[in-house]
Order: sequence, then C-alpha cells, then structure tokens
Amino acid sequence: MADTNAKLTVNGKEYELPIIEGTLGRPVIDIAALQESGFWSYDPGFKVTAPVESKITYIDGGKGELLHRGYPIDQLANNAEYLEVAYALIHGDLPNSEQKADFFKKIREHTGVHDQLRKFFEGFRRDAHPMAIMVGVVGALSAFYHEHLDVSNEDHREITAIRLIAKMPTLAAMSYKYSRGEPFMYPRNDFNYAENFLYMMFATPADVDYEPNDVITRAMDKIFTLHADHEQNASTSTVRLAGSTGANPYACIAAGIAALWGPSHGGANEAVLEMLDEIGTVENVPEFMEKVKSREVKLMGFGHRVYKNFDPRAQVMKETCDEVLGALGINDPKLELAMALEKIALEDPFFVERNLYPNVDFYSGIILKAIGIPTSMFTVIFSLARTSGWISHWLEMHSTPFKIGRPRQLYTGETRRDFVKVEDRK
Ligand code: CMC
Repeated sequence: MADTNAKLTVNGKEYELPIIEGTLGRPVIDIAALQESGFWSYDPGFKVTAPVESKITYIDGGKGELLHRGYPIDQLANNAEYLEVAYALIHGDLPNSEQKADFFKKIREHTGVHDQLRKFFEGFRRDAHPMAIMVGVVGALSAFYHEHLDVSNEDHREITAIRLIAKMPTLAAMSYKYSRGEPFMYPRNDFNYAENFLYMMFATPADVDYEPNDVITRAMDKIFTLHADHEQNASTSTVRLAGSTGANPYACIAAGIAALWGPSHGGANEAVLEMLDEIGTVENVPEFMEKVKSREVKLMGFGHRVYKNFDPRAQVMKETCDEVLGALGINDPKLELAMALEKIALEDPFFVERNLYPNVDFYSGIILKAIGIPTSMFTVIFSLARTSGWISHWLEMHSTPFKIGRPRQLYTGETRRDFVKVEDRK
C-alpha cells in the first residue's frame, strides 16, 4: 500500500516514487518510475535493494531479531522440531497435530533416492569435496523428475518440496559415505529426521544397531532449524533468480547449493575450523589478531551483512554448544582455542567498533566438530537445512505473478565500434 511518495529529481524532471510499508521493518521506495528517466539504480551487493516482497522471514539486524512466519527463532529452535519449522516456512504457520503427522509421514515416504543415482556418486573421485558432489547430485535429481513436473501445478510444486526436504539428508550422508569408501546406508524411517541423518552418517552395515544420543540428536535438529531460512541471502536469491526463468526446481536448489558454498556464506563454518587449524594454539591468537587488523585475513565466523548487534541464531547455538560439550565431556584443545578467540574478539575495540560478533557458523562448526562430523561436511549440513528455506521461497515466488530476474549494469568497458582485422591489430 502506497502511504506517501518520495520525490526524485533527475535532469530537472521530478518523479514521484511510491513508498510502500511492509508489516515490519524499513519501508521501501518503489523505483519502477526510473524506467522512464533514462537512468538505472546502482547498488552493488544489493545493500539497499529489495527485489521481492515476502511473507516468510523477517530480520531486524539492528535488534538482532529473526522471525520465521512471525515466530522468533529462539522460540522455534527451543520448542519445535526442524520439520515443523520447515512446514511453517512452506505453509505459512506451524502445523497442528494432524498436519504435523501428515507432513512428517510424507517426508518419511520420500527419503529414498532412485538406485540409479548411485552411479552419479561413482563418477566423482573419492577425494571430491562433498559440496561438489551435492551440487552435482541435487542437480541430477532434475533428470529424475523433469518429465512429470509442471511448475505451474501446485500439487507438483508441493511434492517437489517434500522430495527435496526428504532426500537431502540421504544425499548428504551418501556424499560422506562415498568419501570414506563405505557403503551407503539406506534411510531408517523409524528414526526422526535428525536421528535418521546421523544414522546414515555413522552406522555401517556391520553396526546397524545405531543408538541415537538425545543430546546430539537435539543439537543436530537445532542446527537444522537455525539454518532453515534467512530471507533474501545470497543462496536464496540465487534460487529465486534461477527459478524466475521457470527452471527445474532441483536445478534451482543445486544453484543455491553452489552459492552457499563460498566462505563468505555457508562455507564459513568450514573456514572457522580451518582458521583454528592455522592458528594452532592459544598463544598464537594475538599474532593472528594482528593479521586480522591489518586486513591480511578475516576472522571467520564473525560479522554479518545484516546483523550489526548480535546474531540471534548464534545465541541459541552457543547454549547448544555448551550443552553438547558438557554432555560429551569434550576437552579438545581446538575448542578451547575457539573459546579464547571468542573472548578476545568480543573485547577487542577493532571488533567492537565494527559490530563484529560471532555468527551462527562460529558455534555450529564447534558443535559439529564435537559430535564427530568432519569439517568438509559442515557446509553440506547447512545446505541440507537451508533446503526448506530455499524451496519455500521458490514456492512463494511461483504462487504469485513474478518476472524473470534480470538486473541492469553500469557499463565501463571499451567503446570501440569498428572491427579490427587480425593483421591490423597492435
Ligand atoms: N573479520 C575481520 N574484519 C571483518 C570481518 C571479519 N570476519 N567482517 C567484516 N570485517 C570488517 C571489514 O574489513 C570492514 O572493516 P573496514 O570498514 O575497516 O574496512 C568492516 O568490518 C565492515 O565489513 P564489510 O565487509 O562491509 O561487511 P559485509 O556486510 O560486506 O560482510 C560478511 C559480511 C559476513 C561477508 C563478513 O563479515 C565476513 O566475511 N565474515 C566472515 C565470514 C563469515 O563468517 N560468514 C558467515 C556469515 S553467517 C552465515 C550466513 O548467513 O551465510
């Protein structure tokens, strides 16, 4: 709803730009009228641009607030299971008991993958990074579900969401098993979502009597919930952009996985552990901090584009981290080093002045290491969890009219207009 207009004067002509209020957060200025002005807007990194309207997630970076479908993330993480949160992201609200039972059943029914998909794994070298495998095999799902997928059909879209959320733990665990040279474990549908994932990761055919540990399962489920969605971040925007062309949704999610992989985004949890390896011991922390301050390196797991006060996911994650370390009685020097780093960074003026706080990936990396998940799987787990968010945004986009995402540019290249023959080129 346009409350009032902003005015923009370009080359002496005034344009009225409607101001639109959402239910929460900053209003936006609708700049569509720029189309007639002969100018484009310029906003590298999309720092002030909202390319979509969405009802799924709200973040107030200043307050450190994250809401999914209106519910604060700490309440969801502490009281709901990941699959309930996934349901809310997709359907608009938390499920009642009947809806919950039905959704969980549908997810259980789709955890298996086509046997032919195993062949895709075999095409990778054993030392391939599991994220490389995930980009490949999730993209490959499009080959299994293309012919019978009409993205304009609501039922087809819904079953796609179910399939993706159900199969991601299976594929993620397969990518790990493949790297270990161990046989894949079939999903166990008597386990809950997190238990089943841990079972497929850690059980072997020789030891199928895997006993889930409550503290670990709950921590895993919270990690899933805390990574489920984060509004228009780089990977979600990638999924929306790919989806805006009408592309196959499995291919769109593979594009999201690719975008997530980078160390500025989901790859940060892995980068945190690599950084701890590089620092080595607590005594080396001051020297490392000097490198950070001279901008030679970044302190991975710190800072966020949106949160400039604290990351509310990190608070829940820190509590879980303490719980897991306590329950497992872990005394790993790497974890002590992480805690020392956290303490110094929280007090150092360089970080305080720049509002750099630990983000969700700082603590999730520590928890995952404590429960025996190898570093290379950290971002895979993030992608598994974020799939519910990605697909919710894809569904939201497809349930309303949308346009192909097609940004403009500021061209600063050459202006040669005459072709130069090869013999005349200098
Ligand atoms: N270590 C050291 N300095 C930093 C860091 C860091 N991690 N992050 C930002 N800064 C500095 C930066 O150098 C700049 O300083 P100055 O103004 O003096 O030049 C200032 O803080 C502002 O940084 P920015 O680059 O403008 O911030 P941004 O919003 O563009 O970047 C970020 C956000 C997440 C990419 C960045 O903080 C970063 O690279 N952090 C480390 C990687 C990381 O942990 N990423 C995970 C994010 S949470 C998971 C997710 O949601 O994807």
